[in-house]
Amino acid sequence: MDQRSTTGQVPSGTKTAETPGNAPTIRLENIVKTYDLGEVQVHALRGVSLEIYPGEFVAVMGASGSGKSTLMNIIGCLDKPTRGHYFLDGKDVSGLTKRELAKIRSQKIGFVFQQFNLLSRTSALENVELPTIYAGVAIEERERRAREALQRVGLAEREGHFPSQLSGGQQQRVAIARALVNNPSLLLADEPTGNLDSRTSVEIMDIFQKLNDEHGLTVVIVTHETDIAQYAKRAMEFRDGKMKKDVVIQNRSIASEVLPTLPSIDEDLVGDIGVESPQPSNGDTSAK
Ligand SMILES: Nc1ncnc2c1ncn2[C@@H]1O[C@H](COP(=O)(O)OP(=O)(O)OP(=O)(O)O)[C@@H](O)[C@H]1O
Ligand SMILES: [Mg+2]
Repeated sequence: MDQRSTTGQVPSGTKTAETPGNAPTIRLENIVKTYDLGEVQVHALRGVSLEIYPGEFVAVMGASGSGKSTLMNIIGCLDKPTRGHYFLDGKDVSGLTKRELAKIRSQKIGFVFQQFNLLSRTSALENVELPTIYAGVAIEERERRAREALQRVGLAEREGHFPSQLSGGQQQRVAIARALVNNPSLLLADEPTGNLDSRTSVEIMDIFQKLNDEHGLTVVIVTHETDIAQYAKRAMEFRDGKMKKDVVIQNRSIASEVLPTLPSIDEDLVGDIGVESPQPSNGDTSAK
């Protein structure tokens, strides 16, 4: 990634105006998250209040340790706040059990991670199918849905490939298909382009923009890179567990317009680059 993109500053913009008329998908009310490590307490979020409306595309920025992933995990129902309230589609989910949260997550939320988190000994199609099993989708329906999701990210012809046989960008597209397979209304991505080269990053932003523009998905991504945030519609900056800035992006970048201006990379070379990236969660991708 080029230097200018790693400043972690929110892009220039104007302060957000209230979106009138419709109810927020996400409403956080004074959310506090404190990790209790016995001797020390880590104050990861110190009172965050915000609203995100249907059809928004938000980029969350901020220095390392500022609380971005903590925020995303709470929004994604992967974790619970210590204090405060989280209303998802109007329902207060802050007091729900893990099991109840898991159910809501599988119905409403798709989550994409920096490390892709694919199962290494499992084909692209089977990786995408997994959430449909947890959601109790009928067997005949699972494969159809997984194929459809792979098609949406342009990977229909790679369904039989294992993660190690795919480039980094392709692996991330499989992860996006997996996030889409239960038809969520909210797509969350924590540093989705953090392990990808510049062109592939723009390809991923192209997918997110299309899902947002053409399918109406609400999208929230975490990114360190100003030029990636520029593809969103709104940017927030976090510092020390608090939201410090919240702006509408001016002169938004459109990935489908940027891509033709970027040099294309040989697919075979991309494959090598992708496999080289470190994957601590499934470090055995070469063992087949
Ligand atoms: N499970 C945990 N236990 C204890 N402390 C944690 C835990 N997860 C995060 N923290 C701490 O909470 C703070 C916020 O962490 P978080 O991961 O949300 O930051 P971040 O903004 O996502 O950073 P990065 O850009 O490096 O991913 C940090 O000080 C971190 O060390
Ligand atoms: Mg993080």
